[in-house]
Amino acid sequence: MCGIVGYVGPRQAEQVVVDGLRRMEYRGYDSAGVALVADGTLATAKKAGKLKNLETELAQSPLPASRQGIGHTRWATHGGPTDTNAHPHVSANGRVALVHNGIIENYASLRAGLEAQGVEFASQTDTEVAAQLLGQEVTRHGTLVDAMRAVCNQLEGAFTLVAVDTAAPGRIVAARRNSPLVVGVGDGEMFVASDVAAFIEYTRDAVELGQDQIVEVTPESYEVSSFDGEPGTSKPYHIDWDLSAAEKGGYDWFMRKEIFEQPQAVADTLLGRLDHDGQLVLDEIRIAAADLRRVDKIVIVACGTAFYAGLVAKYAIEHWTRVPCEVEIASEFRYRDPIITPNTLVVTISQSGETADTLMAIRHAREQHAKVIAICNTNGATIPRESDAVIYTHAGPEIGVASTKGFTTQVVACYLLGLYLAQVKGTKFGDEIRDLLAELEHLPTKMQSVLDGIDQTAKLAGDFVDKKSILFLGRHVGYPIALEGALKLKEISYLHAEGFPAGELKHGPIALIEEGLPVFVVVPPQGRDQLHDKVVSNIQEVRARGALTVVLAEDGDNEVDAHADILLRLPRVPTLFQPLVAIIPLQYFACELATLLGHDVDQPRNLAKSVTVE
Ligand code: F6R
Repeated sequence: MCGIVGYVGPRQAEQVVVDGLRRMEYRGYDSAGVALVADGTLATAKKAGKLKNLETELAQSPLPASRQGIGHTRWATHGGPTDTNAHPHVSANGRVALVHNGIIENYASLRAGLEAQGVEFASQTDTEVAAQLLGQEVTRHGTLVDAMRAVCNQLEGAFTLVAVDTAAPGRIVAARRNSPLVVGVGDGEMFVASDVAAFIEYTRDAVELGQDQIVEVTPESYEVSSFDGEPGTSKPYHIDWDLSAAEKGGYDWFMRKEIFEQPQAVADTLLGRLDHDGQLVLDEIRIAAADLRRVDKIVIVACGTAFYAGLVAKYAIEHWTRVPCEVEIASEFRYRDPIITPNTLVVTISQSGETADTLMAIRHAREQHAKVIAICNTNGATIPRESDAVIYTHAGPEIGVASTKGFTTQVVACYLLGLYLAQVKGTKFGDEIRDLLAELEHLPTKMQSVLDGIDQTAKLAGDFVDKKSILFLGRHVGYPIALEGALKLKEISYLHAEGFPAGELKHGPIALIEEGLPVFVVVPPQGRDQLHDKVVSNIQEVRARGALTVVLAEDGDNEVDAHADILLRLPRVPTLFQPLVAIIPLQYFACELATLLGHDVDQPRNLAKSVTVE
């Protein structure tokens, strides 16, 4: 939420900063702004709305040449999305400019204190409090880094701050607490950003900052220290993807590109998981086998799409390990006083690795002495750093706000974890685990076959442009797929969409069925007869009441033919793995429908990726 970038080096800072903002616009697009230091003064430009508004403004009124700048793309929290509330904010003395991601929880009392001293505020934001304080502290302390330290020690909440000082040419200072910040180390130039995507064009060498750390960068150096002024350690790493992964590569939307990347992303997530003896190895899990054997309850904690991945995982994990598995929305977790013991394994799922609700759940779990394993797509993000172990999904950058390859790779990582636990606990024989892994390895090919036939789904979207409401039904692992299919549609098409357990409809929601209402039904593979037949009955119940049934059923399942107004075929896979193929038409349907409705698929209204506020 909110993208931040800063640059010092030989290039024109405005261009580098605006390019960085473009690659981070998925993090927020309520407004955008830049501030440059040129000849000892600040030059700023900020505009409400998407980045293109700022670009138009910059084209009409260019800023002076500068080698040092900061920029921001905003997801509004305090104060509406207006030009004045856009970042950067400049201190009253005109000396510093600052951008911020997060929420300053004690901003009201700080603002009251500053106003009592006569400071006049230009905006309604919490951020301006930090800018005004920084302006005062830099006069008091002399250096921007000391002033930043003094400010950070007054703030409560979550924040990444990046600032420039007119009295400190060629220098940027940034700080972080509970919100992401990385340094990009170039050759004679430095970058700071919320996300490596901002500088991937210039360098693939990055440094992750720890909690409560400050970094001061010049073109040649970066110096990390704590909020207390102690020298800090930081972890350099090399980014294993390049600019092409952060570009659309000929697709109209990142989301569409990411849907098509799923077979490869799943294959990459499965890569190298067996050792010479055919044992499943998860190198990243540095929790002793003895500790895992003691696990008597698993709690999966996540938000949104990642939560639905957790719901899918529950079926597989309980089936393979015979350990009870709960799945909980992260923002609810710590408030219900969950029963956690040292034998509880908490599994968190997060594509971004920065989701504040999930992070707070991890902290709560660890305070209760539970072991925490994170499933994450972002190297070095806060969530894996604060967990006991991590399984990385290797999906590459996910830029479309609506998660697609994030979801399928999360499901696969959960399967790997489930099989690993089954291996450690001995609840499955080695050959059973190998058979399941072999099935999983076929999944990328099966997913590709769904994508090869995706034109039928595209045509379906064309037929449904006038629909106002769409329902999704599923049972067993098909139920979370119904929920995820509905979420995709809500997020980018802004249609009323709901997912239900197919058997639950008759307990109330069936009242919603009326003539012509589209109902997507995910039919389980035929092997599990009871489950399959029950869903076939549910299709008949809604069709009898006028629903237009769109049935997703496996190849060769002819029992459904008579009950489907529209039939979308899925390749044959074991029941537990069906989510990986069944979700693809639902993702694509949402993407196509939103496109036809003229919506911005990658940047849907009111949303942002990487939700760093609670
Ligand atoms: C939906 C979506 C969100 C995220 C949720 C968690 O398409 O993208 O629901 O899944 O905000 O995000 P992460 O996985 O980054 O923790």
